[in-house]
Amino acid sequence: MRKRKVVLITGASTGLGLSLAKRLIEKDKYHLILSARESSLSRFSEVPIAENENLWIRKLDIEEHKDMYDLIAEINTKLDGVDILINNAGVSYRSVVEHVTEKELEKQMSINFKSPLELIRLVLPRMRKKACGKIINISSVGGMMAMPTMAIYSASKFALEGASESLWYELKPYGISVTLVQPGFINSDSFSRTRLTQLAEKSFKDSKLSYHNHYKNMANFIQFMMRHTPVRKNDVSMTILKIMEQKNPPLRVAGSFDAWLFGALRRILPRSIYHWFLYKNLPGIKEWGREYKP
Ligand SMILES: NC(=O)c1ccc[n+]([C@@H]2O[C@H](COP(=O)([O-])OP(=O)(O)OC[C@H]3O[C@@H](n4cnc5c(N)ncnc54)[C@H](OP(=O)(O)O)[C@@H]3O)[C@@H](O)[C@H]2O)c1
Repeated sequence: MRKRKVVLITGASTGLGLSLAKRLIEKDKYHLILSARESSLSRFSEVPIAENENLWIRKLDIEEHKDMYDLIAEINTKLDGVDILINNAGVSYRSVVEHVTEKELEKQMSINFKSPLELIRLVLPRMRKKACGKIINISSVGGMMAMPTMAIYSASKFALEGASESLWYELKPYGISVTLVQPGFINSDSFSRTRLTQLAEKSFKDSKLSYHNHYKNMANFIQFMMRHTPVRKNDVSMTILKIMEQKNPPLRVAGSFDAWLFGALRRILPRSIYHWFLYKNLPGIKEWGREYKP
């Protein structure tokens, strides 16, 4: 019997990760390793998703190197390594650059960029030895374009994109593919999980503080888009499944129509016109910088 491909998904207990997990369980074709932070593991039993011989549930906080090393060592010993790594776990800080502390920046970069890279480093030796494998990194439309109040989120995804592009060249000779999935807005409650930095939160709540209108208008806009976009988690998880099953998947795949559209606009328009167009169309731009002063 052909061995099932071993798939490791990070942040699989909610959102896109969970949607993909459910889809793959239905397929019953892979050996799945669904991972989540220890405090989130109980969510699997609520779905319910339970372990069996082809499905492992494991704790993995991607900021904890010990978690990573222990899990990859176990997979290497018992299953001969990961065949498909899906770096899905991510967080999104919302803040203008002036309101970010070094600690908050470190957290954002650590979860969205450094840890996925570390996990890649750990799975690669086995993939190279077998001369096959797939790395799928969940990026974002924010990984190709940056919007106000999203500087460090975009920086983390741009970094992930840059490293993935290098990897794509590096790993091609070994038969390992690297793909970035770039979802735009997804109709989900993920917005409620967005983190504001400490200073951003203050400014968001107080209409007299600088940048208040930046936060207010961007937050309303993003929330509106997330509530009204027709794109569902299931659509994006279907895109990921197609990549998993494709022989030679491309480096970048738009995860939704808006991502495709912004990608096209960015390619077609001269950069100065593109920025001018987006600036003019920022939600409530006339109010920005004009905070209420008694
Ligand atoms: N939703 C969107 O509109 C959208 C758009 C573009 C890109 N994306 C990207 O898609 C991916 C999935 O996002 P989502 O929408 O499904 O968001 P989500 O519902 O907030 O899920 C994110 C997952 O990442 C996990 N996570 C966070 N920090 C972690 C850590 N240190 N170790 C392990 N897991 C950790 C979370 O676990 P806990 O619950 O334990 O914190 C959660 O399961 C992310 O990379 C995100 O940037 C999302």
